[in-house]
Amino acid sequence: MEISACVLAASLLLLSSFSSATDSKNNPADELVSVINSNRTSHKSPALFDNAGLGCIALQYIKAYEGQCGEVGDSKKPPDSSFIDTFAPNCGVEAPTLAPITGRLLACQSTYVSPEAAFDILIENARSLQILHDKNHTEVGVAVSGTDGGAPYFWCVLFSNGTRNSSFVLQGGVAKTVRPGCFSGNNDDCSGASSLSSALWTMVAAAGIAVAYGLGL
Ligand SMILES: *[C@@H]1O[C@H](CO)[C@@H](O)[C@H](O)[C@H]1NC(C)=O
Ligand SMILES: *[C@@H]1O[C@H](CO)[C@@H](O)[C@H](O)[C@H]1NC(C)=O
Ligand SMILES: *[C@@H]1O[C@H](CO)[C@@H](O)[C@H](O)[C@H]1NC(C)=O
Ligand SMILES: *[C@@H]1O[C@H](CO)[C@@H](O)[C@H](O)[C@H]1NC(C)=O
Repeated sequence: MEISACVLAASLLLLSSFSSATDSKNNPADELVSVINSNRTSHKSPALFDNAGLGCIALQYIKAYEGQCGEVGDSKKPPDSSFIDTFAPNCGVEAPTLAPITGRLLACQSTYVSPEAAFDILIENARSLQILHDKNHTEVGVAVSGTDGGAPYFWCVLFSNGTRNSSFVLQGGVAKTVRPGCFSGNNDDCSGASSLSSALWTMVAAAGIAVAYGLGL
């Protein structure tokens, strides 16, 4: 009895130290936007507006892969019509305010990595660096999601040249709940504890697939 109580106490301690560690990270999608913007500004490209509607759409974009990490490397991608047919309505984005996507970066990983590490994986070659620094972008939306809260982990960055307050406009100003997963611009806490929690417990498989690519548009 005493032993099992002790074990329980130890697990609770472990659990709480895990959640406080992840809580302090706030929202990994917002963190990736910060990394992107600081890299852009240090390379003389303007910082991008973090558009929540676009962030929510980035999460929908991820979900279209249905957890199929292997399909990320092929130039397979959701049809453009899915933006208006499913992504916008699922997010509560007003369809007439959809703006052109001027760049996309996508990566899939078997383990959860930090936003800084995700940035390095996403920016893997000259083409993706060009997409990152493109002066035609005006806004960005970032999402990260594991499949049903577990591996594999997808990171998606969508760039647009829309105008900041008339593109990807959310009905009533708030995105619909689209968990599991985190997206940028929503002013919310999306920590390991609330949304990527099983990430912490499935971080076992170290080796695996790491694909990233930039789509020319
Ligand atoms: C911006 O990112 C690129 C690609 O990862 C990197 O090579 C470069 O050093 C970064 N620039 C700064 C100022 O950190
Ligand atoms: C930016 O947009 C202009 C006009 O649409 C186009 O000609 C140019 O190639 C674009 N630049 C990049 C880097 O994509
Ligand atoms: C946005 O990008 C699209 C596609 O590159 C282009 O056709 C359009 O003219 C651009 N719009 C603005 C406002 O720059
Ligand atoms: C749109 O955004 C600009 C700044 O980016 C702001 O000055 C303006 O008031 C906004 N317009 C509306 C209608 O919210």
